[in-house]
Amino acid sequence: MLALIPSPFECEIQQGNYKLTQNSKVKSDFELSLLKAPRGEDAEIVIEKNPALSQEEYTLDVHSDGIKITASTQTGAYYALQSLRQLSRIELADGETPCCSIKDKPRFQWRGLQLDESRHFFGKEEVKRYLDYMFMMKLNVFHWHLTDDQGWRIEIKKYPLLTEIGSKREETHVDGWRTTHVVKGRYEGYYTQEDIKDIVEYARQRGIMVVPEIDMPAHFAAAMAAYPWLGCREIKTEVPGYFGGRVPLSRGIRDWNRTACMGKESTFEFVFNVIDEVCALFDAPYFHIGGDEAPRNEWKKCPLCQKVIQENHLNNEDDLQGWFNNRICEYVKSKGKRLIGWNEILSAKNLDHSVVAQYWTPKRDKHAERYVNSGGNMIMSNHKSFYFDMTYAQYPLKNTYEYSPEKFGVESRNMKNVLGVEGEMWTEWIDGREKLDLNLSPRIQALSEVAWSPENKSDWNDFKARLDLFKPFYKSLGRNYAVDSVSLVKNPFDRFYIKNKFYRGDTHLEVKLNKKFIAKGEK
Ligand code: ACM
Ligand code: ZN
Repeated sequence: MLALIPSPFECEIQQGNYKLTQNSKVKSDFELSLLKAPRGEDAEIVIEKNPALSQEEYTLDVHSDGIKITASTQTGAYYALQSLRQLSRIELADGETPCCSIKDKPRFQWRGLQLDESRHFFGKEEVKRYLDYMFMMKLNVFHWHLTDDQGWRIEIKKYPLLTEIGSKREETHVDGWRTTHVVKGRYEGYYTQEDIKDIVEYARQRGIMVVPEIDMPAHFAAAMAAYPWLGCREIKTEVPGYFGGRVPLSRGIRDWNRTACMGKESTFEFVFNVIDEVCALFDAPYFHIGGDEAPRNEWKKCPLCQKVIQENHLNNEDDLQGWFNNRICEYVKSKGKRLIGWNEILSAKNLDHSVVAQYWTPKRDKHAERYVNSGGNMIMSNHKSFYFDMTYAQYPLKNTYEYSPEKFGVESRNMKNVLGVEGEMWTEWIDGREKLDLNLSPRIQALSEVAWSPENKSDWNDFKARLDLFKPFYKSLGRNYAVDSVSLVKNPFDRFYIKNKFYRGDTHLEVKLNKKFIAKGEK
């Protein structure tokens, strides 16, 4: 067994070791500006270009007298070095590297991790740390959830109030879905366009594509606090601090999940202008519009929305959203990009087939399964495996590791339609680095293995053994991580306490997270 996560496509372990040191010299056909090692003609590590390999593929041969890497791209070469980093344990130990011959390439082209920065804002340095971790685990898509009801986090020059008003809230919901507790206090943050460019470039250097999500037409309350004319009724509201759950409706609207009007041309003008600015910042050939959890109540009462339904001979509000999505899809296509949306958007009968759907819902969705089995592209983020905001007591690590798209109705012959898998880091209850790290590690290792390693190599016990060997890296990375001993403990005053053990560096802590049990099926 090689101490390597994700496990490689093919490997052969040989006799002996090679001792890597901080002074080992590198000679490379690639620029590799992130690699700090000294360079020289008499190098111990030789990196050669081989155009016959695919984009992310590499070979790594460790012999007793040196190391040879081949790749066709800079990213492939970096992936080989990431493998060497784990095998040599150079940052942990003495650099003794087992001799081996590895041929490696990914299972899926889309190996994603999302971060919700609306509910909590982490900032540029934390995002770069997140990207570094993705890079180490050979993940290549950063899905950046930049807007939602509780905060608009990207500067749009044409609409300055989106950040002047929309990035600030005066209270924050705490303690879980089953409470209405808030803490009062200003919470704010956003990325300038310069910040965004800096992060996109940082990711690019690490082989990571950044896909922005501007959630619409629902989860739009922060935008509507800034520009109330975006709604069916022009109601002035604050950026909500509630995340949902038990809060009663006020004025007949869900303040915490508001929906733009589909019947006003001004909505489209706004969205197109936002897309113009966002597309200029991100070079990914995708644009995520969310599209999840859209309440229909305002559209049902709105004469302008109903007029669109009539004039376009639409069946209902599902198709109204489909009609909206298709207009946005056309616009995004004109910019050379494909639209992505959460799987609810597939309930519309009239949706363009170029749309990429992301399957998240806890329940099986016949529309999603029909879509992927009829040629539609899908990213798999099924709740019980990939909702990393959930506690380990609810969704143990094995849920992630043992994921298979076939369990969600993808027929084997249609696996080619699955672009890949993605972990979702929603942050309603993740308010900082400690919890972020805890919920991420070791799930990111399991995700990485599902996304990268061949399916026939999946082996839980082998993974657990390699994970034990990986654990010293958490300390060197300065990351908290969860251990297995997670349990639900009855509490006389409350429904449940969820106990999670985790490590901060090497200090063993025990914390109580999300004091109230979160019902299954809720996000
Ligand atoms: C989602 O969790 N509403 C995509
Ligand atoms: Zn309307």
